[in-house]
Formats: sequence, C-alpha cells, structure tokens
Amino acid sequence: MCGIVGYVGHRDAQTVIIKGLKRLEYRGYDSAGIALLNKGLNVYKKKGKVSELEEYLVGKDLASTIGIGHTRWATHGEPNDVNAHPHYSSSKKLAIIHNGIIENYSSLKQELINKGHSFTSETDTEVLIHFIEDIQDNNQCSLDEAVRLALTKVVGAYAIVIMSLEDPNLLIAARKGSPLVIGVGKNEYFIASDATPIIEYTNEVVYLNDFEIAVINDGKLKIKTIEDAPMTPYIQKLELELEAIEKGGFDHFMLKEICEQPRSIKDCLRGRLDSQSGRLVLGGIREYVNKLANADRIIILACGTSWHAGLVAEYMFEEFCRIPVEVEYASEFRYRNPIVREGDMVFAISQSGETADTLAAIELAKSKGATIFGVCNVVGSSIARASHAGSYTHAGPEIGVASTKAFTAQLTVLSMICLIVAQKKGTITDQKFHEMLVELENIPAKVEKTLKLNDQIREIAYTFKDATNFLYLGRGFNFPVALEGALKLKEISYIHAEGYPAAEMKHGPIALIDEEMPVVFIATRDSSYEKIVSNIQEVKARKGRVIAVVTEGDKLIPGMAEFTIEVPAVQETLMPIVSVIPLQLLSYHIAVMRGCNVDQPRNLAKSVTVE
Ligand code: G6P
Repeated sequence: MCGIVGYVGHRDAQTVIIKGLKRLEYRGYDSAGIALLNKGLNVYKKKGKVSELEEYLVGKDLASTIGIGHTRWATHGEPNDVNAHPHYSSSKKLAIIHNGIIENYSSLKQELINKGHSFTSETDTEVLIHFIEDIQDNNQCSLDEAVRLALTKVVGAYAIVIMSLEDPNLLIAARKGSPLVIGVGKNEYFIASDATPIIEYTNEVVYLNDFEIAVINDGKLKIKTIEDAPMTPYIQKLELELEAIEKGGFDHFMLKEICEQPRSIKDCLRGRLDSQSGRLVLGGIREYVNKLANADRIIILACGTSWHAGLVAEYMFEEFCRIPVEVEYASEFRYRNPIVREGDMVFAISQSGETADTLAAIELAKSKGATIFGVCNVVGSSIARASHAGSYTHAGPEIGVASTKAFTAQLTVLSMICLIVAQKKGTITDQKFHEMLVELENIPAKVEKTLKLNDQIREIAYTFKDATNFLYLGRGFNFPVALEGALKLKEISYIHAEGYPAAEMKHGPIALIDEEMPVVFIATRDSSYEKIVSNIQEVKARKGRVIAVVTEGDKLIPGMAEFTIEVPAVQETLMPIVSVIPLQLLSYHIAVMRGCNVDQPRNLAKSVTVE
C-alpha cells in the first residue's frame, strides 16, 4: 500500500505530483506529503487526505521542476504529520518516499543511534534514508552507489524514490516487492506506484523489476541491478485510457464500477468467445491446456474478494472438469508447509496483481515445482509477471477500494478457463459446452438488466441503513456470493455482517436471529432451491427480516420474504456474476446513507503490499 509519485522535467512538479497522489489515494490515505527543490530541499506533509495537504500548500512558494510525493497507509507509527513521508536524512540533504516495510529497521536504527543519529519519526523509512546517507558519508561514493549498498543490507519490501539537495536533476528509485512504473516523456520522467498518475503525460513506460535501481540524471534513465549489473530499460506502451480512471459523472468510483460491469464483462469476453462458431480461446493458457486437463489437483491462491472468486471457481472446476480443487488464503498457505505435488496446478487470483501474501504464496508454490497461472486485472503487475502463464481480466482500472467489477471479471475468466479445460478433458458434452458459451455471451445483458433494480435496492437500503448486524446466506454457487455480499457491506458501511452457507446457519448464527436481524438470502432457482426455501422458513419462524435475491418469476419466496429482488435466470454456475450485483448496490447505498466514505473506507487499502 502507499502511493508514490516522482517527477523531474520541465513542468511544475507540485501540480504533477498532487494530481498523481490523488489518483493513487486508493492505495492509502492516512497522510500525504511532498518534497520539492525550491531554495532548499523542502518537505511539506500533513495527516489526512491529499486534499488536506493541498490546503496546507496554498500560498506557499512551491515552484520546482523536481519533486517526490507520497500518500500513506500506516505500517510503522501512527498516522500523523511527523510519520508522514517524505522523510529527511540526518543532514536534511536527502529526502525519501517509501512503500513497503523494512523488516530489519530496528537493528539498523540501533546501529545508527549508536553512531549518534537521532530520529524524528517512528517510521522504518526514516531509518532507511539515514542509513543511505551514513553509507555515502563513510564510503565517499555517489548517492546511487550508496543506495545500492544500503539495499543489499535491507530485509523487507520497498519501492523508494530519493531526491537530493545537491543534485537538482537527480531522482533515484528502487523496488523489491512493491510496484514502480517509470513514465518516459520528452526530457521528463515520471515515477509512480502504478501508471494512473503518468497516463495523461506519456504512454511510454518502464516497469522496474525487483532488485533494480533506476537512476534518472540530467534527462537520462539508467537501470542497474542491486548487484551493480547494468540493465537496458525496456520501454512498453501503455494501453490505459485517461477516462477509465476518472469518475465520469458518478458520485463515487464504486458506483461507476458497479455500473460498468456489462461493459467490463464484455471486454473480458472480447476476442475470446464466439458462441456461434463455438470458439473459446484464451491465448495466455493455450500452451498449458493439456497440463491443466491432466492436473491431479488445482490449488487456488488469493485474498479478499479474489478469494471468493476462487471459491466459485472451485465449484465450477469440480462440476465441469472433475478436478479436485483447494482454495487457499494466500496468507495461510505461505506460512504452512503445504503439500504441492508434481501435477498440481496453481491459480493465483488478484485484481491488483500486487498483494504481498499472494505473491509470497506463489513464490512458495513455484519453489515446490508448481506451474502458476495468474488471473490478474492490472497488466504488467508483479503477480502477472511472476506467473508462468495466465489471463488478464481486462476490467479496466478499479479505483473504489471495495472490489466489484474485478470480481465479476475474475468469475468470467475463470469460467472460460474451466470450460476450455473441461472440453479438453472430455468432461463436458458438446451440447452443454455450447449452451455455456451462449449463456456466457448473454451475461452482460443480464447484468445490465439487474442494474435496473437500482431504485428498488436503494429503497431496501433505506429500510436497513441503521441495522447493526446483517447475515448473508447462500448455498452452492451462491454461498461464495453470500460471503462477498457480507464483505462488501462491512468494508464500506462498517456494519457487522457475516456470510454463511445457509444450512450451516443451524450450527451457530441462528442464535443471532431476532426481529432486528436482516438476513439476505441468495435464493435463485438452482439445484439447492428447495433446501434454501426451508432455510428461509427457519429464519422466518424466528422473526428474522428476510431480503431475498430470487430468480425472476419466483412464485414462492416473495410470499415469505419482506423484500425480494428478482434477477434474470442464469445457468447456476454463472449465477454468481449476476446475483452479486444487487448485493454490491445494497452495500453501496447503505454506506452512502450512513455518510461513509465509500471509495476510501477507513483502515483499508486497495492494494495490500504488506503482509
Ligand atoms: C484488499 C482490497 C480487496 C481485495 C483484496 C485482495 O483487501 O481492499 O478489495 O479483494 O485486497 O486484493 P487483490 O488485488 O489481490 O485482488
């Protein structure tokens, strides 16, 4: 987490950096700061959002064509002005911004304290810049050499950018485990945690790799490794459009992203699926289809919403491919001693492609010989690059912290992979395969139709906006949807919500049900329909307030539930792509009515690059 921006060139650095930080605010918003070279190396920082920093800067002389800026998600030290980045070195001649964690910072700090250094903040970052300066002083070497030497001693994850009072044309950046993109303009360079601050100035970028150091000096970019081996910068063209990262008339990014889903799912299917000719192709996995069809087991690694997509995929792969699947929280998998056998295939699902636990879990699985398929949204992200093969979800940038369109795009990609493997394996009939292609092609239109329920869902939200607890229940393919619905609500409205398999309710949550408890059933017509109807009755018998997501035309449940939300009929394995939509809208409206910051909920970050 944390967003970082650097600029050197001919523009007003402050303008570029503040605009860039606002685009990166989804990565953290505890505090923000900027360093500029203007009659000295000046650092300005403030607790709170970038807008608070902006207010603080009003009236100051900030003219400068070089600078660095940071928006923070606190790891070491509480969010306040002092702990905000940038941090100065001991002499105040260097300033640094950092995303990540320096794990051995306390031993480095102690060494430096013994040498007479004193620190103003509680951060690991301040220790790093003191350490770099100390190395430079002791070795009388260049700053980039001091950075390199320091990084050989650092344990942890970092993306850093450093500037120096003594060199008005120099920016040094380095990464290990946290993303960094360098935008290459005409006599100007941009550095950022992702491409969104860069896109309006240039579409030529270099993605820095782990253990690489970029030195931008006097208009030239040089890259070397931490072992001092020179690298040739590989310039790539960005395909991101500026409008994709703006709100486009919506009140919140989350609502924009919910409403974009018919298009994002279409984008995900585009060029890959054509039901008329029976064509279903995913270029990224082509070479591995045989291996997948012969897999003894599939292991899915993910966190958060992506983990919920993994659960749906488990059910799908078992249904159509008859391959055993295990869905693992990446954070648990990486610290166990998991059994990964030859013949096991691993899927890593991640919107950002930067989640630290998922990345570490991939590395562990790789070290045990597994083949990794990435299902990522962010092109060129660390997980995409660490995978042997994979498919992008092509949902476009997702900026609201609560994941919506990335989830439905993940489900779309995973269903395509599943069908390709099932066809190869011969575990699906031609007729069923064809039916599924048609069904997938129709999903965007069904999502579109479901979005028309917005006004009805807003009214339901109004009824329940003051609830203190919510229960979400589903069975089969709708069980992960119940988990996702509960996660969406708690993330953005701070209402306690639990998702449960509907039948499992009897083993605990049923004790919570009284006339105050809203219970959302995802009860569309599928193979467990009758069973879930009984579960609804059990809740009714205890006076719970039932809100049910049902299939259009359902005659039974509307007579039992206080509110019913009717979604179009969809084949049951694909139903989660549609049945999740009302739950996204419900949590969105409740959060707005409660006055919550929907796009930037407290304590959360979009891209969790720390474990
Ligand atoms: C954070 C985000 C969630 C996301 C999870 C996993 O918690 O707030 O929306 O589901 O990370 O992120 P990933 O980028 O790996 O999908």
